[in-house]
Amino acid sequence: MKFNHKHLLGLETLTREEIELVLENAAGFKEIFTRSIKKVPTLRGKTVVNLFYENSTRTRTSFEIAAKRLSADVINFSISTSSVAKGESLLDTVHTIESLGADFIVMRHSCPGAPLLLARKCRAAVINAGDGPHEHPTQGLLDAYTIKEKKGRFEGLKVVILGDITHSRVARSNIWALTKLGAKITVAGPNTLLPKPFEKLGVRLCSNLQEAIKDADVINILRIQMERQRANLFPSIREYTLLYGLTEERLKWAKKDVLIMHPGPINRGVEISQPVADGEHSVILEQVTNGVAVRMAVLYLLSGGEENE
Ligand code: CP
Repeated sequence: MKFNHKHLLGLETLTREEIELVLENAAGFKEIFTRSIKKVPTLRGKTVVNLFYENSTRTRTSFEIAAKRLSADVINFSISTSSVAKGESLLDTVHTIESLGADFIVMRHSCPGAPLLLARKCRAAVINAGDGPHEHPTQGLLDAYTIKEKKGRFEGLKVVILGDITHSRVARSNIWALTKLGAKITVAGPNTLLPKPFEKLGVRLCSNLQEAIKDADVINILRIQMERQRANLFPSIREYTLLYGLTEERLKWAKKDVLIMHPGPINRGVEISQPVADGEHSVILEQVTNGVAVRMAVLYLLSGGEENE
């Protein structure tokens, strides 16, 4: 099967088969991590530019490692020290980067749709590394990969996404991927952070934490995105933690073998307690490792790869 996309802008437009193709290829690339030389020549001669208008630790570093393991050249474009600070527009910046020979532009921006605009205007392949609250497709893919690796299936799994759903691109990309793959999704948190239209996507909304996580197979915990909130949507962080913070005591409501996931960055003691973040159910750091394999698979498939040998 061929991956018939030039860009990766979101998971809404991918089919179940295309998502499965990425996950299969990621498994192949993860095998490389066990070798002494963790490098293959797949993207030799290609250039990947990381263009991040918002901060990032995991995604930017992970794309850099993924591209380097595929033997591509990598440029990390620093917005704060670039001519963006002198008023250069997004499109002028990108056309300049293209003229320098970029084959892939990995972009994070606070504006939903910014990667789509770029994809329409430039020759390079564009990968959305998070556009405002809209989508974060490679996070959705690495979360799906981690669930498949740990649980072996999606069909019938109860996956709870807990936290600030309204402002979360991770929630949206998880929902698009996991519903297509057959999981049952519950989004949980204060009513003010649960968008009613999500019900149309086949997702259950629940503001009662115990009810939401009862018998859960997976709990994916999200941080409160204060930087995107335009109004006071709950009384205080302290109150949020009292009602929705995931503690060891509350974890007992879920299944005994529940997976605890978090895309990061974590606010310890707010949405998740220290013992839960570092406990036996947590796969948070494995998510980060899997992110490299998934991003290698995405770069490979967008470059026209058909089968990962
Ligand atoms: N999960 C995630 O996007 O983390 P960063 O913001 O550190 O890239």
